[in-house]
Amino acid sequence: MKSYDIARIPGDGIGQEVTPAACAVLEAVGKRHGIVFRWRPFDWSCARLKAEGAMMPQDGISQLSGMDAILLGAVGFPGVADHESLWGLLIPLRRGLQQYVNLRPVRLMPGIQSPLVGRSGADIDFLIVRENSEGEYSDIGGRFADGTPAEAAFQTSVFTRAATDRIMRYAFDLAGKRSAKHVTSATKSNGMKHTMPFWDERFAAISAEYPDIATSQYHIDILTAHFVSHPDWFDVVVASNLFGDILSDLGPAIAGSIGIAPSANINPERDYPSMFEPVHGSAPDIAGKGIANPVAAIWSGAMMLDHLGEKDAASDVEAAMEKALLRSDCLTPDLGGPADTKGMTRAVLDNLSGSG
Ligand code: NAI
Ligand code: MG
Repeated sequence: MKSYDIARIPGDGIGQEVTPAACAVLEAVGKRHGIVFRWRPFDWSCARLKAEGAMMPQDGISQLSGMDAILLGAVGFPGVADHESLWGLLIPLRRGLQQYVNLRPVRLMPGIQSPLVGRSGADIDFLIVRENSEGEYSDIGGRFADGTPAEAAFQTSVFTRAATDRIMRYAFDLAGKRSAKHVTSATKSNGMKHTMPFWDERFAAISAEYPDIATSQYHIDILTAHFVSHPDWFDVVVASNLFGDILSDLGPAIAGSIGIAPSANINPERDYPSMFEPVHGSAPDIAGKGIANPVAAIWSGAMMLDHLGEKDAASDVEAAMEKALLRSDCLTPDLGGPADTKGMTRAVLDNLSGSG
């Protein structure tokens, strides 16, 4: 019997609805594979911010550092500025726990209709590797001459050689394990005069270490167009924090719905726990209605199992999820179906118990 300490942070909005779904599926697959999850619940959220003045306690990062992994729902809610919720929880966790890789798979699942006409699963199957520790999301900057006609705002991007090289090496190593063996770099070295030529230089230098891996690079503007027109060109896409964030909402959109897109915030050295969360946010427009698609959270749970080395359990969850997505009566409204969160979760659970 193996056991894992998992921090469970449902957060806000539909995070409260999809996290229990993921935990139920993990419990069920755990029983089949002799895995015990010791859930450590944390109420860190916008609700906590309103009640206690902070999204998480001051020693939040050290409370998590002994965990084996973190399962997160989403944070953010109307009434709290989005930059407050993001910088009050998500970004400090990603940085404090050195989760410098944000891995976001984009795969068109059987049974799901892509909005791109004529595309099948063979055309849309790639990984976005987003730099998760620096780049455009920096707190260096400020306001000048507030409230006057001379008012100005400044925000400085940070691209270090250490962080740029390590995210690129991660992408190349990942591509080495896949059949297409191809890495695409997202750049913008025509418009951004300092950071992006540096990004391109590092991409050229790191790609020279991997002679067996083919490469391409595109400016982010045409790259977004290629995601739509030629999704089959992509295998592993490496991008800065901002570009990766944008691409990883576009990717799931071509794969059917943001409601199924998972992500992992990884500390590859395993000095700290990694964190698994849906790509989507707290969806205040549907929160409380019980209709959120739980698949992104469940798939994130499968990525957690994979990271913990529980490969068989991870494949079982993915298989159960794929089978459930084939049933149009089990799909949630974002995928055009009639089911609710509980119905979709039940379908995944039924497949798990049925398969063994
Ligand atoms: P969002 O992802 O929450 O919602 C965008 C649209 O997708 C909405 O129409 C929503 O109903 C739909 N949607 C999202 N997840 C769904 C699911 N599982 N099932 C069915 N439909 C789903 O993004 P939005 O509206 O930009 O942000 C809402 C809040 O979430 C904001 O406060 C934002 O800052 C926060 N946010 C938090 C993230 C995180 O915790 N990682 C990521 C993105 C946004
Ligand atoms: Mg995003």
